[in-house]
Amino acid sequence: MTTSHRTPELWRSHVAEVLTRARDRSALLTDAVDDDELVRQHSPLMSPLVWDLAHIGNQEELWLVRDVGGRAPVRQDIDELYDAFKHARADRPTLPLLGPAEARRYVREVRDKAFDVLDHTTLEGRPLLEQAFAFGMIAQHEQQHSETMLTTHQLRSGAVVLDAPPPPPGTRLSASEVLVPGGPFTMGTSTEPWALDNERPAHVVEVAEYFIDTAAVTNSAYLEFMDAGGYDDPRWWSVQGWAQREENGLTAPLFWEREGDTWWRLRFGVREQVPPHEPVMHVSFHEAEAYACWAGKRLPTEAEWEKAARWDPATGRSRRYPWGDEDPGPEHANLGQSHLRPAEAGAYPRGASPLGVHQLIGDVWEWTSSDFGGYPGFRVFPYDEYSLVFFGADYKVLRGGSFGADAVAVRGTFRNWDYPIRRQIFAGFRCAREPRPGEVG
Ligand code: AVJ
Ligand code: FE
Repeated sequence: MTTSHRTPELWRSHVAEVLTRARDRSALLTDAVDDDELVRQHSPLMSPLVWDLAHIGNQEELWLVRDVGGRAPVRQDIDELYDAFKHARADRPTLPLLGPAEARRYVREVRDKAFDVLDHTTLEGRPLLEQAFAFGMIAQHEQQHSETMLTTHQLRSGAVVLDAPPPPPGTRLSASEVLVPGGPFTMGTSTEPWALDNERPAHVVEVAEYFIDTAAVTNSAYLEFMDAGGYDDPRWWSVQGWAQREENGLTAPLFWEREGDTWWRLRFGVREQVPPHEPVMHVSFHEAEAYACWAGKRLPTEAEWEKAARWDPATGRSRRYPWGDEDPGPEHANLGQSHLRPAEAGAYPRGASPLGVHQLIGDVWEWTSSDFGGYPGFRVFPYDEYSLVFFGADYKVLRGGSFGADAVAVRGTFRNWDYPIRRQIFAGFRCAREPRPGEVG
């Protein structure tokens, strides 16, 4: 169903469902390893898993129990420990964190109170309450951290503890690129109930015609770039990109390893041959940009990505998702950690856009060429530290969600961001380009 006309009772049951799904996922990701692995730091880029768990509970306490519910604090003494701005990820293991058993008890206690608040709060009268926004924000927050915890699992070494069935197989696409006609489209949203502040407001953007790939760049295509000496040719790289390549000795995506003529990769502890037809992932923005340049293309801007994902040529209006206004189902997109890998091109024909662009939602986050910033008319809601403090040229925008992201936290308007050097996230890319002279009439 679409979300616009829910009664308070339907909002309550929807909130209960998404909060419960989020908690099931957090529990699975933290119960998969023993206590020692929960408190250990698997990578300086990541928090210990037990930090993420209690941080999820602390955000829920701050917003749902204290702010929305007006209830007494559960554990005021730990706010500072779980404030992401107070301690860098690398320092978090040295903090006096709640241990695994305490953290589990804490999140359970907070959740019980949050459900009680849900039952006793009228969903009106404050912007935070309208359409259960605060509850939706907290469900998204937990699922964002479940993807973060999945990233930690990808970085940890040791026995295999996560498993999932493969996604549906690919199918042949009739075209490798499509032309998106020039003209205005509506970017962002003013009506999507749980859209976060940086997705707002809806505004009209003029976009010149461009071609965009119908699928993400595959491992085999990326290997052609590698085999053509792409990593050794500064022509394809920006100055910052070449600096990353040099400083870190980049020669292949993260988690790849060559043995003779064969490339292998590590995926959640399993060593497997790099699957040629899957989207490439674990490449930085700079690597994506270098590939695109080598291929005679470029990365799409954020507006180009969103127009390809939402613009309906028949009506001129912007959809919630490429397939329409319905919430994502398993037939539309590879989301929600149901398959612990991206799917091949054409695996989700029912998720394609009207112009025939596939898998914009799910599989891998897609790097865009755009810096993260506020839309015209941006207003902080409900706190500066969600988006505002990250605006500027330090971060690049990623779109579309990955197999590790939950449906509640992905939309046609959803904006993710990260440093352009980041490689551990489940990110790949697709390319765009201008039409060649005489190519379109
Ligand atoms: C939107 C994924 C960049 O994880 O840093 C989690 C989301 N904000 N807790 C992040 C978020 C606060 C954020 N990203
Ligand atoms: Fe957080």
